[in-house]
Amino acid sequence: MAGKDSIVILTGAGISKESGLDTFRDKDGIWSKVRLEDVATPDGFRRDPARVQAFYNTRRRNLVEGDIRPNAAHLALARLEREWPGEVLVVTQNIDDLHERAGTENLIHMHGELLKIRCGKCARPFAWSEDLAVDAKCPDCHRTGSLRPHVVWFGEMPLHMDRIFDALARCALFVSIGTSGHVYPAAGFVQTVANQGRAHTIELNLEPSEGASLFRETRMGPASQLVPAFVEELLSR
Ligand code: APR
Repeated sequence: MAGKDSIVILTGAGISKESGLDTFRDKDGIWSKVRLEDVATPDGFRRDPARVQAFYNTRRRNLVEGDIRPNAAHLALARLEREWPGEVLVVTQNIDDLHERAGTENLIHMHGELLKIRCGKCARPFAWSEDLAVDAKCPDCHRTGSLRPHVVWFGEMPLHMDRIFDALARCALFVSIGTSGHVYPAAGFVQTVANQGRAHTIELNLEPSEGASLFRETRMGPASQLVPAFVEELLSR
């Protein structure tokens, strides 16, 4: 790594676990309690919009009103962005706002944001921190029942992919933190970076992910310990 080299960091639910938010595929994770087909697909929303809105209303309320704060891993990534001389881009699959709250600015929410909603017809996302009713009216086009969480569901295209692939092509270091590597396209980023052959790739996770063997280096442990130590190491070079 040279001074102005750029870094891309992919984060998943594991980075927010120690902040009090559930992961998806761990033993006690969200998908052990509710079927993703019911609450995280366009079909599920068509079948039962009330169930889907209730699922995201509960998660939104927990994020806004619960005792949920950025942990040492989020804070360390914000520090890296402030102090690293080159570009640091955080690409998160998480829909929580813990990276922003920690101070990260160069951030892409590729799976959307829990604290935004959008109209399924006129599409403009806007900030939202309350419960969303099934029959709420879009303030722009005044349709009733078209508002939905600004969240990418299975079968939908993740957001800002051009910007992400551009950053992956330029980076000298790719770091994957707290993601199980089950969901594409994010799970394929390590292969994209490996194919260009120049960048170092490292996984920081509680346990080896699906794609662990594709990384040049892996470190296992809780994000709140591994990430601050790794950032310290990078900055003290
Ligand atoms: N520190 C580091 N890693 C952790 C920690 C921790 N404290 N706790 C759990 N993990 C790891 C788990 O071992 C697991 O590998 O985080 C990973 C979480 O994996 P998933 O639950 O599958 O979450 P994620 O990879 O972010 O899911 C991707 O799937 O359902 C969709 O849209 C949802 O964005 C999500 C996507």
